[in-house]
Amino acid sequence: MSTRLLRALGRPKAQRRFEAPEIYGSEAIGRVARALPAVERVYANIRFSILRPKLLSVMDLLLPDEGRILDIGCGFGLFAAYFGQTQPSRRIVGVDPNARRVETARRVCDRLGLEGHSFIAGDARDVVLEGGFDGAYVLDVMHHVPAKDQLPLLERLRDLLAPRGVLVLKDITTEPAFGLKFTELLDRAMVGWDEPLAYRHHREWGEMLASLGFHVRMVRVPDVLPYPHVVIAATKQG
Ligand SMILES: C[S@@+](CC[C@H](N)C(=O)[O-])C[C@H]1O[C@@H](n2cnc3c(N)ncnc32)[C@H](O)[C@@H]1O
Repeated sequence: MSTRLLRALGRPKAQRRFEAPEIYGSEAIGRVARALPAVERVYANIRFSILRPKLLSVMDLLLPDEGRILDIGCGFGLFAAYFGQTQPSRRIVGVDPNARRVETARRVCDRLGLEGHSFIAGDARDVVLEGGFDGAYVLDVMHHVPAKDQLPLLERLRDLLAPRGVLVLKDITTEPAFGLKFTELLDRAMVGWDEPLAYRHHREWGEMLASLGFHVRMVRVPDVLPYPHVVIAATKQG
């Protein structure tokens, strides 16, 4: 028998963790909120009441549990700090054009003792990034990107992913019309009237992603509020 085989037989089986950390991640959410300054904490509480634990758990299970993961439009780093806590082997790279938010994201991770994450101030359309990401997520950001730039951005994200890498897109679909109006009013309250908001029906996102060679699955996630949430998992084909 070769020495290599003998060594392999003697090696203990790789340690696997079979843990089901807090079903709804409420402790992780609480820690993120407490790590933020007062005003941002109010925002975080609102964001986490919209992106409820049920929705977060769906995305958490779709994302790889380790490796480099891109967070497009990371804002204050709420979800980097959340997904970084639920699976500590993830190394999240957050990108947002708002330098102040990016600085806050860094501080939140520092305060929580989360290591291996980095945050870059820049526009996802052209910021310099090293590719080969195992996963990426875009949470309620695509509709803030001008319509003409959405397909090129998805194409860029595909090129930044490693083969079999998954892109998790959470956005708002356009039906029912009342749900869309409700969301748009709240978005307008946040960004004002000048910024373009470019929502799309989930079928359109699916068609765009499929045209880029992704394997696409999607679910609508009901809410007590009338947000028409949709979560799309797009896997880059090998
Ligand atoms: C509604 S917030 C969502 C923030 C965060 N993903 C969350 O779910 O709380 C939209 C974020 O997208 C960022 N954003 C807008 N256009 C972007 C772009 N072209 N590249 C990267 N981020 C962008 C904004 O600065 C803002 O922080």
